[in-house]
Amino acid sequence: MIRVQEIGKAYRSGRRQVEALDEVSCTVQQGETLAVVGKSGSGKTTLLNCIGGLERPDSGRIACLGENIHELSRRALSMFQREHLGFVFQFGNLLSYLTVHENIEFPLALNRVPRRERDLRVSALLERIGLGNSARALPGELSGGEVQRISFARAIAHRPQILLADEPTASLDSQTAHDLVQLMLDVVRDQAASLIVTTHDPVVIELTDSIMHLRDGKVVEESRTTVL
Ligand SMILES: Nc1ncnc2c1ncn2[C@@H]1O[C@H](COP(=O)(O)OP(=O)(O)OP(=O)(O)O)[C@@H](O)[C@H]1O
Ligand SMILES: [Mg+2]
Repeated sequence: MIRVQEIGKAYRSGRRQVEALDEVSCTVQQGETLAVVGKSGSGKTTLLNCIGGLERPDSGRIACLGENIHELSRRALSMFQREHLGFVFQFGNLLSYLTVHENIEFPLALNRVPRRERDLRVSALLERIGLGNSARALPGELSGGEVQRISFARAIAHRPQILLADEPTASLDSQTAHDLVQLMLDVVRDQAASLIVTTHDPVVIELTDSIMHLRDGKVVEESRTTVL
């Protein structure tokens, strides 16, 4: 479960001060999905970064699977991230000098999954995202949408219970986007994971349980899209 309680985060650079997040709260149970929507600059990426422990909020609390992640030591936080967190970055963040296969394998190696099991899981994931023939390619040889799908495969390879995806379908056509969303929902169901996905994509919004709308760092609207 993800529980965010009244978090605030401001950025100051020179004379510019931005309230990127202002008293934002949300809860996502295991097996549930939340879409975060809002204009560019409304705080979506900042929210995911705070939940994933990549940035520290100025105020408020965040608990992931019952752990107050911003109270953990650096070491305990990285262990937590490596084991329980899958993060799909808005701009991919694949390692350019590793092949597609090696990129997806990376979190499995960190978690000491045995080599044979790693290979099986990576191959199965590549098939699932329709890139079975690209295992030996380097990220620089792929299209934006292919990179996005591989980033997604890397984020779920170690079967995390918390999945944070930042505009994961932004460079995909609607069919490929639909397939990726379906894969996200399978992960959520099969692993009883909690998913927060930021998006502008109606395909994603339609398939999540709830929507939270941010404007200038504030929650302006929340709604459930599925009946309990
Ligand atoms: N490292 C930073 N330093 C200073 N300001 C920042 C930083 N990161 C984000 N901001 C500011 O915080 C606000 C929220 O940014 P954020 O990236 O969370 O928006 P977003 O909703 O993800 O936008 P987009 O849809 O364009 O990805 C913006 O005004 C942005 O300029
Ligand atoms: Mg963003």
